[in-house]
Amino acid sequence: MEENKLRSSNWFGRKGKDGFIYRAWMKNQGIPADMFEGKPVIGICNTWSELTPCNGHFRELAEAVKKGVLEAGGFPVEFPVMSLGETLIKPTAMLYRNLVSMDVEESIRANPVDGIVLLCGCDKTTPSLVMGACSVNIPTLVISGGPMLKGHWKGKDIGTSDVWRFDAASKLGQITNEEFVEAEACMARTQGHCAVMGTASTMAVMVEALGLSLPNNASIPAADARRKVLSQLSGRRIVEMVKEDLTLSKILTRQAFENAIKINAAIGGSTNFVIHLLAIAGRIGVDVNLQDCDTYSQGIPLLANIQPSGENYMEDLYYSGGLPALIKEMDAIIHKEALTVNGKTIGQNCATAEVYDRNVISTMQAPFKPESGIVVVKGNLAPDGAVIKPSAASSALLKHSGKAVVFENIEDYHARIDDDTLDIDATSIMVLKNVGPRGYPGMAEVGNMTLPKKLLEQGVTDMVRISDGRMSGTGFGTVVLHVSPEAAVGGVLGLVKNGDIIHLDVHARTLQLAVAEEELAVRRLAWIQTETIHPRGYVHLYQTHVEQAHLGADMDFLKGGSGSKVTRDSH
Ligand code: FES
Repeated sequence: MEENKLRSSNWFGRKGKDGFIYRAWMKNQGIPADMFEGKPVIGICNTWSELTPCNGHFRELAEAVKKGVLEAGGFPVEFPVMSLGETLIKPTAMLYRNLVSMDVEESIRANPVDGIVLLCGCDKTTPSLVMGACSVNIPTLVISGGPMLKGHWKGKDIGTSDVWRFDAASKLGQITNEEFVEAEACMARTQGHCAVMGTASTMAVMVEALGLSLPNNASIPAADARRKVLSQLSGRRIVEMVKEDLTLSKILTRQAFENAIKINAAIGGSTNFVIHLLAIAGRIGVDVNLQDCDTYSQGIPLLANIQPSGENYMEDLYYSGGLPALIKEMDAIIHKEALTVNGKTIGQNCATAEVYDRNVISTMQAPFKPESGIVVVKGNLAPDGAVIKPSAASSALLKHSGKAVVFENIEDYHARIDDDTLDIDATSIMVLKNVGPRGYPGMAEVGNMTLPKKLLEQGVTDMVRISDGRMSGTGFGTVVLHVSPEAAVGGVLGLVKNGDIIHLDVHARTLQLAVAEEELAVRRLAWIQTETIHPRGYVHLYQTHVEQAHLGADMDFLKGGSGSKVTRDSH
C-alpha cells in the first residue's frame, strides 16, 4: 500500500474487473457509488447475539456508530464475529477467547477496512476482540456495552455478586426456590453486562485505562441514552483516527499497560484482568509480565467502593464522576502523558473530572480500603506464580496454614463437597486440580468453590481455596487462582495429597507446600496424566498450543501480529 493511501482502496479503488467485482457486490445492499470514493471504510465488529444476553442491545449501538461514521465522512460496514455469552457457553467461554481472537484478526485483515470499532461487552468479548485487533494493528476504537442497572429485590439492591449469596442461602434453606427464581428477573432487569466490578466491568475499565475508548466508556449504563451518544461520537472519531493513522501500537505503549495495572488496583478489578492484559500485551508486542501486575499495583489502595470488594454498582461509579474522576485522584502516580484514541492524553481527558460522591470514589489519602490490586504469590506450589485479590479476601486468612483437602477435578469436587463424611474444617485449605488452561480445558471459573454445606451451617463464610482455574470477577473470598504450572502439565499442584500442609502468606507473597523435595520427586514419578487431549477440532488445537496462565493463556502461535497487509489477490 502506498503512503497515505486508504487500505480499502486496494479493493474499492481498483480499475477493471477487480474493482467492478469489489464494488458491484456491495451495491446490492443499496450503497451509492460515491460511498466508495476515497472514504475511510470503518468496520464495526459486532458481538451481538441472543446467546450473549449482555450484548443483546448491540444492534442499536452499531446504528449509533454508523451515524457517527457517516457524519464524519466515512463508510460504515458492520460484520459479526463469534460471540461469547459467559452464562451460556459450555464448558467455559475462556476456552474460546483465543478462537474469537483469530476470527477477529482474520476478519479485519481479509476485508477492505481502514479502521475498526470493536463492540465489546460480556467478559471474554473484550479481550478476544482487542487481542485479534492488536495482531492487525490498524486504527481501532473500543465501545463497551455498558453495565446493567442495579437489580432490586425485596427492597434491596442486588447484582451478580449476590448469586453466590443466594446459592449459599438456598443451600441452607434460608430462601425458597420460588424466591430464588423471582430474584433472577429482579437482578437482570435491563440490558447490559453485570452491574458489579466483575470481569466485564473490569475489561471496560481496562480499555478506557489503556486509552482505547472515549472517556466514560467504562461506566455509562447500557440503558442510559448517553451510551448511544458515546457510540455516535466514537463513530465520528474513528474516521479521524484513520486520517491520523492512529494505530493501536501508538496507544498501547508500556506506559499505557502500567496505567491499566494501577487503575485496575484502584477499582478492585477482577483477577481475570491479569490473564487478559498479558495476552493483549503479547499480541501488540509490549513486554509486560505477571510480576508487573503485582509490582505496579503495590501500594495502590482501593478507591472505588463497588461490589464485590465494596457496596455499590457500576452505575454509581458513573453518577459519581465516572472513571475519569477516579483516574484524576491518581494524578500523581499514573503516566498522564499516555495517548488515548481521542488524540488527547489520559491526563488531559481527566483534567476537569470531578468526584460527586466520596462514598463511591474515595481519595488516595483516605481510601475505601488500604489494600487492593492483584498479588502474585510464588513458592514450590506455584513456581511461575499464582494470583489473589486481597480486597475480595478475608484479612484474617491472608496468612494461613492448613491441611489440604484435595479434589482431583471439578466433578470430584461436586461429588464430595457436601458429603458429611468429608474430612474438612474451617482451617482446611481446599485444593482443586485440573481446571487450568490445558487440563479443563479452558481454565474454568470454578476457583471460588462454594464451601461445604456443613461448614456453611456452622457459620463459616470463607476458607482458603487454591486451584489452577479462574474465579468469576463477581466472586469473592480468600481464593488463590491461576496456579502455574497447572496440574495437567505436571505442576506441583498435581502432586498435592490430602492432609499435606500448605502455607499461604499473601504479604510475603509466598505459597508453599510443606512436603520435602525428595517426597515430591517420588510423587512425580508416580504421577499419572489423567486429563486427556481431545483428538480433533479446535479443542485439540487449543490444548496442544495453549500457554500457561502466567503468560496469559494465549496460544503460542498467536503471539505477536501479522499486520494488515494481504499479500495475494484471488481475482
Ligand atoms: Fe455477561 Fe456477567 S455474564 S458480563
